[in-house]
Amino acid sequence: MPTLGTDDLLPAELADLAAERVPRYTSYPTAPHFQSPFPADTHRRWLAALAPSTPISLYLHIPFCQDLCWYCGCSTQAVSRPAPIATYADDLLAEIDLVADALGRRQSVVRVHWGGGTPLALAPADLRRIDGALKARFDIAPSAEIAVEIDPRRITAAHLIVLRDIGTNRASLGVQDLDAEVQRQIGREQPFEVVAAAVAGLRMVGIQQIGFDLIYGLPGQTTDTVAQTARDAVRLGPDRLAIFGYAHVPWARPNQRLIDANLLPDPGLRWQLARVAERTIRAAGYQAVGLDHFARAEDGLAVAAATGQLRRGFQGFTDDPAEVVVGLGASSISTLPAGYAQNAQQVPAWRSAIQAGQLPTARGRAITADDRLRRRIVETLLCQGAVDVASLADPGERLKLAPAFAQIDQLVARGVATRDGNWIALAPGRELLARVVAAAFDAYLTPNGPGHAVAV
Ligand SMILES: C[S@@+](CC[C@H](N)C(=O)[O-])C[C@H]1O[C@@H](n2cnc3c(N)ncnc32)[C@H](O)[C@@H]1O
Ligand code: SF4
Repeated sequence: MPTLGTDDLLPAELADLAAERVPRYTSYPTAPHFQSPFPADTHRRWLAALAPSTPISLYLHIPFCQDLCWYCGCSTQAVSRPAPIATYADDLLAEIDLVADALGRRQSVVRVHWGGGTPLALAPADLRRIDGALKARFDIAPSAEIAVEIDPRRITAAHLIVLRDIGTNRASLGVQDLDAEVQRQIGREQPFEVVAAAVAGLRMVGIQQIGFDLIYGLPGQTTDTVAQTARDAVRLGPDRLAIFGYAHVPWARPNQRLIDANLLPDPGLRWQLARVAERTIRAAGYQAVGLDHFARAEDGLAVAAATGQLRRGFQGFTDDPAEVVVGLGASSISTLPAGYAQNAQQVPAWRSAIQAGQLPTARGRAITADDRLRRRIVETLLCQGAVDVASLADPGERLKLAPAFAQIDQLVARGVATRDGNWIALAPGRELLARVVAAAFDAYLTPNGPGHAVAV
């Protein structure tokens, strides 16, 4: 049984902040503030305007799962037949051509991320076809990171061979929680042995860089079960782990209605669960990176954190060297120098645009100089735990940030942040409230907007 220190307990006077609904800041402005509709032509112009020498990252979204886990907040759908997935692969090939045509050249690619949903819902032959199309239309660097999100329950020998053949060098596995009772309460039964077998299979084909996703805040979790999950997870020797706070947003994700909200941990317990997981993982030799990631010292994420290169994007904390992300697939978001462009969320709308020979853009937002400044401040605070606003904003810009500074001062008075002139830092032991501190700089935020998950 883990012993709880005073630091592991949510101070009663901060309970309102822990329960505050704030964005995750994987972009700024955040996705609810994208405009819809958004012209595909603008998206096309943004792609065409990329400098030939700009390295990019590609994100491919595969929005299919065999069935939906009850807690899942991802953009995906349950599909039991292979036909719709094969059709999706055909459309993805067409989208790759459309995007490469818009770019007008074989742009250099330093990272490919296959996400979902479940990328391995694709048949092995479809994975190969898509990889072939990427290589035909993009200049994929030999050193590129090729990362795939993997559901350990859905990995087959045929998939392992294709993953090896397409050059996969990083896998992130959805582990979530290893306690049998918690797994039952979240509709995701996945014994430790299933995860161990997936890790062994990936290592056997030479995929050595492995990350685990864990979640705290699930029904049935106690500090004991979470500590045990963390201990079992590190036994498998992943290079990195992420511990996401469970985002319960049943109004946006109807599958989450299967979770009994009465059984969810309250803010005080959520705080303890996060702290205990963090302490257990750090005790096993991992370094804390950003808000919710942990990595071995030699892992790229820890190196990026140590050298001030850590960034935040739609996949969370990242060491991605590319500032430009081109999204492919339904609901994927591109991060371009001029702004964000998001594809149609639903597969039929995404498909009909592609079949009409058009980029499937549905939403987006051009970013202003003020957005850019606030984005840098938010990103630096979340990635480094502190920010020197004077290094990012001139005196005139700082004047416009006065309301944000006033909010920071309120958080300073409550012991959540510290401030020395333009230097703002998260207070030690209060890092879990980082998103609340970052939110002070969010010019679009409606306080406690219903769209967001709780801060801790
Ligand atoms: C897009 S999913 C892909 C993983 C893969 N499909 C799997 O389930 O193994 C990425 C991760 O998001 C996290 N996640 C999903 N729903 C969440 C929620 N409601 N709150 C917090 N994290 C969530 C899970 O840890 C999951 O592994
Ligand atoms: S957690 Fe993964 S497997 Fe489960 S529904 Fe979400 S995307 Fe699909």
